[in-house]
Amino acid sequence: MSLTSPVTDPTTPLFSSDLISPEVVAALPEGYQCRPVQRGDYHKGFLDVLRVLTTVGDVTEEQWNDRYEWISKRNDEYFLLCILDSNSHIVGTGALIVERKFIHNLGMVGHIEDIAVAKDQQGKKLGLRIIQALDFVAEKVGCYKTILDCSEANEGFYVKCGFKRAGLEMAHYY
Ligand code: ACO
Repeated sequence: MSLTSPVTDPTTPLFSSDLISPEVVAALPEGYQCRPVQRGDYHKGFLDVLRVLTTVGDVTEEQWNDRYEWISKRNDEYFLLCILDSNSHIVGTGALIVERKFIHNLGMVGHIEDIAVAKDQQGKKLGLRIIQALDFVAEKVGCYKTILDCSEANEGFYVKCGFKRAGLEMAHYY
């Protein structure tokens, strides 16, 4: 666990903004931003964007804050970022979770999770920018590879982002 104390300020970035790719920021549409998630993002549409991906449930602000606090204590492992439009509304998000291994000389593997772009913002390369931004974090923190699971329907998107099919996913649901 990181020794960083929990973040309670609503606008403190989850992790260092130095890990946000300048190339990604420069490539965004005019007025859009890419930045680490903040505790105050509960009020900026973060969970609504995730609803395009799957069910989120009725997460209260208190529940969000508890989970955010847990994540913020592990901000050398959980890297959640978002894209905001020119009205500072969240229109895209993605997460990188960094796994520390013993194999490959104490290697680190990045896991890309929960990529979502608001329906009315899809097709503007925001998904691509999110993946590029997460790849930048993964490389900077020292991952030797990044992997993800996706549906067949999204394979083409990830191929466009530079990923290639590798292996097979297995799952146990509880
Ligand atoms: N199949 C094939 N190609 C695609 C697809 C797709 N499903 N989606 C986008 N592309 C292509 C685009 O046409 C574009 O190609 P181009 O460079 O030739 O123009 C390129 O991929 C980049 O597309 P973006 O505009 O960046 O895609 P967008 O911003 O719409 O985001 C995303 C794509 C994230 C899949 C979005 O449609 C979305 O949020 N979908 C619903 C949630 C979801 O399925 N998320 C992924 C789950 S998997 C995971 O989280 C690890």
